[in-house]
Amino acid sequence: MSLTGTGPGTEFSLIRTNGTWSRRAGPGTNKPVTSGPGTSPPGTSGPSTSPPGTTGGPAGEHLSQAKLYQCSNGYGVTWTVESPVVFSYRVVECEKLLDMSNDTLLFGHVGDAEELRVLKESSKPLRRFVIIDETVNEIYGAQVEAYLKSWQVIYKLLPLPTTEQNKSLELVSRILKELQRFGIDRRLEPIVAIGGGVCLDVAGLAASLYRRRTPYVRVPTTLLSYIDASVGAKNGVNFCGCKNRLGSYTPPVAALLDRGFIKSLPRRHIANGLAEMLKMALMKHKGLFELLEKEGRGLLDSAFQSSDTISGCGCTDPASLATRVAIVTMLEELAPNLWEDDLDRLVDFGHVISPELEMVALPELLHGEAVCVDMALMVFVSRERGFLSGDELRRIISCMKSLELPVWDSQCSEDLLHSALSARLTHCGGALRLPLPTGLGTAGIFSDLDPPTLSRAYQNWCSELGSGRSGLSESEISN
Ligand SMILES: NC(=O)c1ccc[n+]([C@@H]2O[C@H](COP(=O)([O-])OP(=O)(O)OC[C@H]3O[C@@H](n4cnc5c(N)ncnc54)[C@H](O)[C@@H]3O)[C@@H](O)[C@H]2O)c1
Ligand SMILES: [Zn+2]
Repeated sequence: MSLTGTGPGTEFSLIRTNGTWSRRAGPGTNKPVTSGPGTSPPGTSGPSTSPPGTTGGPAGEHLSQAKLYQCSNGYGVTWTVESPVVFSYRVVECEKLLDMSNDTLLFGHVGDAEELRVLKESSKPLRRFVIIDETVNEIYGAQVEAYLKSWQVIYKLLPLPTTEQNKSLELVSRILKELQRFGIDRRLEPIVAIGGGVCLDVAGLAASLYRRRTPYVRVPTTLLSYIDASVGAKNGVNFCGCKNRLGSYTPPVAALLDRGFIKSLPRRHIANGLAEMLKMALMKHKGLFELLEKEGRGLLDSAFQSSDTISGCGCTDPASLATRVAIVTMLEELAPNLWEDDLDRLVDFGHVISPELEMVALPELLHGEAVCVDMALMVFVSRERGFLSGDELRRIISCMKSLELPVWDSQCSEDLLHSALSARLTHCGGALRLPLPTGLGTAGIFSDLDPPTLSRAYQNWCSELGSGRSGLSESEISN
């Protein structure tokens, strides 16, 4: 027996008059009001006389952007709810985030001028629940506390061992218990997470669970989280030996990016972040690739510190340019596909084999390192397919090496490769949808990968870059 009728049925608009919602057959005709997205997270939408998710109309009527459809057949009635959810969040690049005169850490998530004015003029003390990576706390904890005290914030600072091995539900549960103890006004007091990708992912999941969705602010302190883990909607933890198996798509209200934190980051972790930057360069920005080829080593040496200020769009120093291009190219890919409904995702480059490899090679390989091993193998697949010349392959692999990233790993066996690809098939609706470079800074998505091509690419990758090989010279690579 089926309750579904044919087609969506009768369309109803939802109208609120004098505080009560009612249905009205047919589409509404009211003009949209200008006060911003309806169901954006608390703290981001502007003040409005309209309830969230509505457009204003005559005589105090408000038309919801949601629709209700009703249809019936011989067995019963079906109502279909269509409710658009709009998220808005801010990605703010700034300097001196912990400088006491800088109020970005407290108010950077508020986009609306009027809301900001009301918040700043309020006599109510601010309260913040701050989750911080343990190592970051050792380096910056005193500064964070001094900052919060100087603004007379009532706060709880929670340092946690947010390592990849601890990236689990247990850590989320620990946060939730502390959060419950501290108490929080979810309209006004966003949770703040300060740390690398692990800390931000774990805190983000806790925030998305607490009272079904509590706003949170991300403050990335690693290069990888600065250009990647901070700017999208995803969070998560590892589960049953599977990478990020539990999680949600819940963007923060803001990601507040200060490159100053990277100066204390160990060199290997800077290289780790460079892998994600190289991913964006190879997929869609030749200029960024050339910048990394030329300046990559210098960026590692300087830990992305530069004398240029980052305000405005006229930044020209390599650190500012590279981070800005990486963030913008990433946002271009993420914003239209925040919920990953479209499975053709260039940002998956380097993330096809690496999730399996990472879980096998933990803690030996960092996330970006596993991504780089995956990208190197895929570059060989691209050459085998005739998308890349031998010279282009050489340039890419040399660039990876100059960024001090691994280009091969003994744990990436052919079995692991096949098991990762079959997992990909399952997760991507029966098609591989492999992002592959088709030149330097251009790419396509391919599902037609025949086993002999893959096998040849794998064998060449092993014989040209595998252990015992000192590297790869031009003469070794056939065009
Ligand atoms: N949500 C997303 O969209 C997304 C995207 C990419 C990666 N990730 C996740 O991010 C994680 C990797 O993030 P990561 O590379 O930042 O690793 P991480 O969070 O483990 O941090 C790396 C190390 O650096 C230390 N550290 C952090 N900041 C420091 C600083 N300023 N100075 C000195 N030490 C510092 C940390 O204590 C840690 O030991 C992975 O779990 C990955 O799944 C998530
Ligand atoms: Zn990644």
